[in-house]
Amino acid sequence: MKVAIIGQGYVGLTISAFAGEFFEVVGFDNNAKIVEQLNSGISHIEGVDSLTLQKWAKAGHFKATSKGSDISDANLVVIAVPTPLTGDRKPDLTFIDAACKTIGENMKKSVLVINESTSFPGTLRNYIKPAIEKYSKDSVEHFYAISPERVDPGRGDFNQRNTPRLFAGLTPEASKMTREFYSKFCDRLVEVSSPEVAEAAKLFENTFRQVNIALVNEFAQIAHSLGISVYETLDAANTKPYGFMKFTPSAGVGGHCIPVDPTYLAAVAEENGVPATFIRRANEVNLEMSKYIADRVQTDNGGSLQGKSVLIVGVAYKPNVADVRETAAELVIKHLRDRGAVVSWHDDVVDTWHGESSAPLSGADISVVITKHDVVSERDILASAPYVFDTTGKVAGASGL
Ligand SMILES: NC(=O)c1ccc[n+]([C@@H]2O[C@H](COP(=O)([O-])OP(=O)(O)OC[C@H]3O[C@@H](n4cnc5c(N)ncnc54)[C@H](O)[C@@H]3O)[C@@H](O)[C@H]2O)c1
Repeated sequence: MKVAIIGQGYVGLTISAFAGEFFEVVGFDNNAKIVEQLNSGISHIEGVDSLTLQKWAKAGHFKATSKGSDISDANLVVIAVPTPLTGDRKPDLTFIDAACKTIGENMKKSVLVINESTSFPGTLRNYIKPAIEKYSKDSVEHFYAISPERVDPGRGDFNQRNTPRLFAGLTPEASKMTREFYSKFCDRLVEVSSPEVAEAAKLFENTFRQVNIALVNEFAQIAHSLGISVYETLDAANTKPYGFMKFTPSAGVGGHCIPVDPTYLAAVAEENGVPATFIRRANEVNLEMSKYIADRVQTDNGGSLQGKSVLIVGVAYKPNVADVRETAAELVIKHLRDRGAVVSWHDDVVDTWHGESSAPLSGADISVVITKHDVVSERDILASAPYVFDTTGKVAGASGL
């Protein structure tokens, strides 16, 4: 069986690496640099091993391409393209539309199309299917299913095999084919009654995280105002064996999921006349953490940051990955620069960002830890400046939330 995977980023390449053991996989990406890199056997995603790609390529089980004709004889197509927000923070389905165009214009026979990109309920039924039909010249009937991706890049304990996978087809045949595909490399498949349930479940999972992170970020501010440790208080609450789940405070939320997916849910809620007050407010609380952090650092440093050198330690949105999408570091840096601080950043995992390079971890007046990668030692962070503010709770001896 030949499988085409549209989009070879975090999600698509991860699926390629697992599916390559069982199927002939063609990784389609419109970024020529990524295609070239993958075809020379180099993975650009943490958690996808270059050696695995080389093994599948040697066995004739993997190749990357930007040519539509290379996927025209596939039996199954997975969509794994970005679903970001527009400038005015609305769902942006232009990448999905482009993927539908590629599928519609190139597939010559009936295929199963599975969407793994995150989007609002109704996307498969009311957007993807009609779009592919619109672009298809041959009026071929396709099968459609959704299986929202839950991969957490950089995570060792949960992967494609042991993370339960939700799915639903638009028709019973589509569901059956989808089960057959994923059962090769997923231990537990959970079929739900409609694509809309699967799409909504994915959004709700990440909304649950977003509002709990906002709650703990607000609580960190309350704890500080009371003169008690937020971490000790959370550990104390966490001794309750039921009805409590521990979240930890941070500089805000980042990545392609938590800051974005709840807004997809809020958009569809509001379109249906339901105010998404709680979701919208949680987003604001998380965004406002950057200002709170700048305020705390300023207060602790004599009330002014004018001309002080501030080193941001860790600009990736989470530890041990190079991904800077929607990173909370961005807003923290903005607030510090607005107050006259001279800001640089250290993150050798990210290396270059916004045309700037990672600065040495030393010699600053103030260091602010946003993300602590495992390769960076607490000792080096504490030695980098006379005053260190830690937003991660991982640098003992620093000031912090
Ligand atoms: N990254 C995660 O942890 C994660 C987890 C679960 C779900 N998701 C969802 O999965 C989807 C993909 O996210 P990602 O993190 O893999 O994105 P990504 O940016 O890492 O990768 C997307 C890839 O798609 C390519 N692309 C864009 N438009 C294309 C097109 N028209 N044709 C072919 N290739 C195209 C890009 O060049 C890029 O390589 C999103 O909907 C995201 O919300 C991501």
